[in-house]
Amino acid sequence: MSVFSVIGHPVLAAWTDRLRSIETETEEFRRLLNQIGQLMVPSVTEHLPTTDIEIRTPLADTTGRQLDGGTPVVVSVLRAGNGLLDGVLKVLSDADVGFIGLVRDHDTLEAIEYLVNLPTLSNRHVIVVDPMLATGHSAVAAVDRIAREEPASITLMCVVAAPEGVRHLTSHHPRVRVVAAALDDGLNDSGYILPGLGDAGDRLYGTQS
Ligand code: URA
Repeated sequence: MSVFSVIGHPVLAAWTDRLRSIETETEEFRRLLNQIGQLMVPSVTEHLPTTDIEIRTPLADTTGRQLDGGTPVVVSVLRAGNGLLDGVLKVLSDADVGFIGLVRDHDTLEAIEYLVNLPTLSNRHVIVVDPMLATGHSAVAAVDRIAREEPASITLMCVVAAPEGVRHLTSHHPRVRVVAAALDDGLNDSGYILPGLGDAGDRLYGTQS
């Protein structure tokens, strides 16, 4: 798998496009983001290494597999990341969870960190969840912070990515895997993705920034 990939799945594409629609209101937006989070888990975890183990079924002894290092850690980039997090945890229900709070400075588009709460990340596989990869500033700030803990791998799960954000993140962090549901055209002057879906946090929580 290359560093950046878009999942080519018709159900995921249809749900993502429904998410984009201006007609999709908060309740449906929230449900769709949750479902998208669930559906993306197989793709964001497909690189995880396993080791062979002996297991006994009720009928026979056989060889099975277990995840090296256990279930990955999920780190949500607040606040829109929490919309994906709930879905991811429906599948990875025993995952440890961390939070990184970032706000965008509307003038510089730089990410400003206001909260970091992380479980042990050293030598563990980390999945960062953030629905929008726009300028890439927040993603780089989140990955910078996580990389300091020396995890085994970092994968960013996003729903909509802009080419600018993919370039910015992968040039700063060439080993980070980025998995998206869609790659859009680019950014407008305010750093929003086009066609995108608007402000994911506002649409998820019914606010207006
Ligand atoms: N964050 C969002 O929620 N939407 C965008 O288009 C860009 C960043």
